[in-house]
Amino acid sequence: MSDLENHFGDDASIDKESNKEILAFLVKNSAENYTMEDSWNFLNSIGDKDIIAMTQTSFWKKTHKDIPKNIFDNKKIRSKANCKACHTDIEKGLIEDENIKNLSTFN
Ligand code: HEC
Repeated sequence: MSDLENHFGDDASIDKESNKEILAFLVKNSAENYTMEDSWNFLNSIGDKDIIAMTQTSFWKKTHKDIPKNIFDNKKIRSKANCKACHTDIEKGLIEDENIKNLSTFN
């Protein structure tokens, strides 16, 4: 949030007030302040490594290792970062097994 002018090659800078608001949201909802098991798993697998994407953590890699790589090219998914394509409850902060889409629906 302190260097949004250089955000993955884009200038994502925003006004001071919005920046403050978003930063407060991110801190309040960060894995450190969450009690869900998966938050702990992500945090634990980051350790002191310099990881900027959940998909780069050993926990994510381990839990998704059996998923065929080419599924992420599917036009309904397009990216590993599109968690919502498969985890329909993720916007509620949940990752329940019964809410993971059957991957055969992407064939
Ligand atoms: C292509 C669909 C797909 C995408 C995209 C995807 N996942 Fe998953 N995810 C799965 C499937 C399927 C499993 C269950 C794997 C298993 O049990 O073998 C899973 C498992 C998980 C688990 C383990 C759940 C548990 O505790 O058992 C977590 C956490 C998770 N995903 C988070 C994420 C996050 C965060 C993202 C986005 C950064 C993401 N996933 C993107 C399909 C996906």
